[in-house]
Amino acid sequence: MKAPAKSSASSSPAVSIREPSAAADPGHKPGERRSLDLFARLAEHEHEQVSLYYDPSSGYRGIIAIHSTVLGPALGGTRFWNYSSEEDALIDALRLARGMTYKAAVAGLNLGGGKSVIIGDNRTTRREALFRAHGRHVESLKGRYVTAEDVGTSTGDMEFIKAETDHVTGLIGKSGDPSPVTAYGVYRGIKACARYRYGSDSLAGKSVALQGCGSVGYHLARLLAADGAAITCTDIDPQRVKRVVEESRAKPVGTDEIYDVPANVFAPCALGAVINDQTVDRLRVEIVAGAANNQLAEDRHGELLEQRQITYAPDYVINGGGLINVNAELHGWAPERARSKAGEIYDTLLRVFEIAREEGVPSYRAADRLAEQRIAAIAKVRRNFV
Ligand SMILES: NC(=O)c1ccc[n+]([C@@H]2O[C@H](COP(=O)([O-])OP(=O)(O)OC[C@H]3O[C@@H](n4cnc5c(N)ncnc54)[C@H](O)[C@@H]3O)[C@@H](O)[C@H]2O)c1
Repeated sequence: MKAPAKSSASSSPAVSIREPSAAADPGHKPGERRSLDLFARLAEHEHEQVSLYYDPSSGYRGIIAIHSTVLGPALGGTRFWNYSSEEDALIDALRLARGMTYKAAVAGLNLGGGKSVIIGDNRTTRREALFRAHGRHVESLKGRYVTAEDVGTSTGDMEFIKAETDHVTGLIGKSGDPSPVTAYGVYRGIKACARYRYGSDSLAGKSVALQGCGSVGYHLARLLAADGAAITCTDIDPQRVKRVVEESRAKPVGTDEIYDVPANVFAPCALGAVINDQTVDRLRVEIVAGAANNQLAEDRHGELLEQRQITYAPDYVINGGGLINVNAELHGWAPERARSKAGEIYDTLLRVFEIAREEGVPSYRAADRLAEQRIAAIAKVRRNFV
């Protein structure tokens, strides 16, 4: 994937870190410092900036990666995770930050991409000092980066961050649960896929195999059922299945059977990497379109879907409603405006399929191109009118 153009401001600190387990490498002398090739890593995908901050009093060790601020402040959650090495933490931050740039770009938001990671055990109860240290770190970037919740963090943690900086979103009592907006975006995305595939976006008489009856799956099922679609659903939690069966007239199946269900649409709304070597040949559908992040185990599974003539709605395009909801909180949008913006996923997906057809590439690559086109166009406008 070609990286987007970057903005003018770029500061990349030189960093070398002490390996945590030098003893594991017999050629490594104790105390010797080894390079992480940090600048090479930043250059590889044109990241603008990486910031590291260590606060000995709280034990805070945090990395903030800013991939791009071309479209606006870099937004991305804070992941709190016990990484096996500092290098793993850095790579995760860089990878996730870049993904946020693309997601915001195709969602048509004026946001760039960033991400932060805190290294440590996310079950710790000593959170205030840790997250306030993170808040200081975020504040030091003066709005170039805005944070939110992610794996291992909670709305309560965001409140601690808020004590130190305004550049945080997803606060208690603000935009709230993003799932209804995400589900609406996925529903509109499924309709766009139907339009592309069948010439009509009506879901009456169409069938959907729904994997995951959680927050998004539940709301999605209601929207699909109201549109006349027949749903087959699964979840590891029987209570969640029951609710969808009762409220959306769905038919339940076992968690592994969902891949074999003959249907128009397979909607993954549970886990990532569900399109993989074990499942791709089993699918008996014409469309894959759901909320889950990172649905393709590897890029090549996107090619395999293409070869099987299965229309794939790239995950980060169709599930952009969650980010749109966060953006709504940042800018004080009314809920209807967030929903309407999520509805635009319909047109975005049709554009992605058009690019795929014109350029002869799989849809997941076409989505990247759409994001890159928007970023390059806005970068050019900004250069022209300084
Ligand atoms: N919530 C959002 O706004 C949002 C936004 C963007 C992306 N997503 C992604 O969409 C997916 C669903 O999000 P959610 O908020 O509904 O999460 P959730 O945790 O509420 O629901 C996930 C459901 O999947 C079920 N599940 C787990 N393993 C399963 C398996 N092997 N087979 C079947 N079901 C299984 C869980 O029991 C749960 O009910 C996730 O991948 C999430 O990252 C969510």
